[in-house]
Amino acid sequence: MQATPDGPIGLFDSGVGGLTVARAVAQRLPHRQLLYFGDTAHLPYGDKSPEAIQSYSIAIADYLLAHGAVAIVVACNTASAVAWDALRAHVPAHIPIINVIDPVVAAVAQTYRSQTTPPNVGVIGTRGTIGSGIYPARINAAGVPGTVHALATPLLVPIIEEGLAHSEILRATLHHYLAQPELQGINTLIPGCTHYPLLTDEIRAFFAERNTPITLIDAPSVVANAVANALEPDRPAPTATAQSPQTPHAPHRFFVSDYTPTFERIAQQFFGDVVTLELAH
Ligand code: DGL
Repeated sequence: MQATPDGPIGLFDSGVGGLTVARAVAQRLPHRQLLYFGDTAHLPYGDKSPEAIQSYSIAIADYLLAHGAVAIVVACNTASAVAWDALRAHVPAHIPIINVIDPVVAAVAQTYRSQTTPPNVGVIGTRGTIGSGIYPARINAAGVPGTVHALATPLLVPIIEEGLAHSEILRATLHHYLAQPELQGINTLIPGCTHYPLLTDEIRAFFAERNTPITLIDAPSVVANAVANALEPDRPAPTATAQSPQTPHAPHRFFVSDYTPTFERIAQQFFGDVVTLELAH
């Protein structure tokens, strides 16, 4: 596969959730500049119509391309679920686009093929993602048999966006969802929303308290590897001991369609570094 020109990678989400993916991409491809767009004026996407999300996604892709992006990462499960076809049809064919669903499905299928215990897969996400039925359809199409247990968990995003990812209210809400009959008996869980990696510790604690072994898919890393494979297939992954020498890149840029100081504070938490938000014009 031919490498993509060494320009900035554009990523977008409805808000700050996609920064969990941006952070993993920045670690995997540390020499690349990132252009991130959080569509905070239209957050949340999870309860919007597919038509609305398609039109927001196309406008954002155009914005990122106009700012020099050489590839687009749809760092939002909801947009990946309902706007993918529209985006792929709209964006010029030579621009690689990566969504956050296909790499995760491929990772689950690969785990399934390498294990003797069949996976009993659960997925949590927004109403839009779960309602689209995309995860069960894609996982079964990838050759993993059985029912995929899918549950919409719409209260999690507003709580996380409120900066309460590590609060009692989050824990109570998460426990309420994870205890639902739909998710009983699962041994693999897909966090099917880019906000949810922030809940990794709480999710692990929930299953540990119940002595239930669970494989929690590290979706941001899986997606970051897919981005690296699509853009720079020959570049080895940086290791903790031997980081590849860093070529300086232009500072990452973080655009939002609506600015509030709260978004900026939460964005730092998601990205794990200083983030200065720019209001998109
Ligand atoms: N982070 C997004 C996702 O992965 C969407 C959250 C929302 O806006 O509802 O689906």
